[in-house]
Amino acid sequence: MIPSLITQPMNALETRLHELVQSEVEFIQLIGEDLVNAGGKRARPQLVFLTARALGNPDAREVDFAACIELLHSASLLHDDLVDDAETRRGHEAAFRHYGNAVSVLSGDYLLSRLMEILAGFGSDAASYVQLVARTARQICEGEVLQFQVAALETYSFANYQTIITGKTAALAAAACKGAAMLASSNLEVVAALELYGLEYGRAFQIQDDLLDLTSSAEKLGKPIGGDLREGKATLPVLFLFENGVQEAVNIIARRASLDGDVERMTQLANQPLQNGKSAIELSRLEILRRCEIAVSALEVLPASPAKKILEELAWKETERVA
Ligand code: IPE
Ligand code: IPE
Ligand code: MG
Ligand code: MG
Repeated sequence: MIPSLITQPMNALETRLHELVQSEVEFIQLIGEDLVNAGGKRARPQLVFLTARALGNPDAREVDFAACIELLHSASLLHDDLVDDAETRRGHEAAFRHYGNAVSVLSGDYLLSRLMEILAGFGSDAASYVQLVARTARQICEGEVLQFQVAALETYSFANYQTIITGKTAALAAAACKGAAMLASSNLEVVAALELYGLEYGRAFQIQDDLLDLTSSAEKLGKPIGGDLREGKATLPVLFLFENGVQEAVNIIARRASLDGDVERMTQLANQPLQNGKSAIELSRLEILRRCEIAVSALEVLPASPAKKILEELAWKETERVA
């Protein structure tokens, strides 16, 4: 549900996204339109528009900025589904399966180029927005590659997990809030507070995504479940099992969940109480809650407003998100 406070910019965003994926090359346009039409939660544009309103000063460029953030997210999904060998995205066949690897990768690159072109036209302070978003794109790549490196070298650790989720997901949520704050305010303390909100919200978001990969269904999510295990990715609940010496979990990851029933078994293991009486799922949920608490505390520097309240609610809702 989109909050009514931001219905108008969210509608403007949809129009702008359609404009931005136009290309004379039909395959690029089709891939772009498929992604835009399939929707998705539009979580990051919501962060942009709510941040602007919480600071009380939306800038005319906010719709373009939100569109650029969503295009970077879309480009990352095109690349991510190929590298994760994921069959579906947003309830549809993944683009690389329909159009092939080459077209899918190059269309992702097209979206990246398109958004940099838009940001470069942001006027006299364009460089700061180009730098912010380019740095975020770099962090996403680093997070994604580190995730493969950790799986290949089996250097699983809580520290590596934190670096991975920060790069591949939280950096973009942080950039959405930071960029929107930069557009609305020149107060550096306020900009940093919003960046921290986005960062912790983004970490909570990815931990929840990782839990859903174990506990939800492909129908609900519109994308496959169990993919993390098949790719040898030990996410937070699995790391708690490792920490508690659950050898079966180690074996499932080592064989990339290749046996029938492996995903279901990992879910069972993650639901069983560990040494301290809590299950790996419960421990992961506590970590989501902790991240959301930090996110909400970061907003304390802002005066009360309807937009601030919705940002707080968004964080709390992340603790119980089911799709
Ligand atoms: C998927 O993001 C990739 C992750 C960072 C987990 P979303 O869950 O926001 O995907 P859409 O945009 O709603 O489809
Ligand atoms: C999310 O990666 C981050 C990016 C897409 C860059 P995942 O691989 O965990 O996300 P899903 O589960 O495919 O959406
Ligand atoms: Mg993936
Ligand atoms: Mg991935």
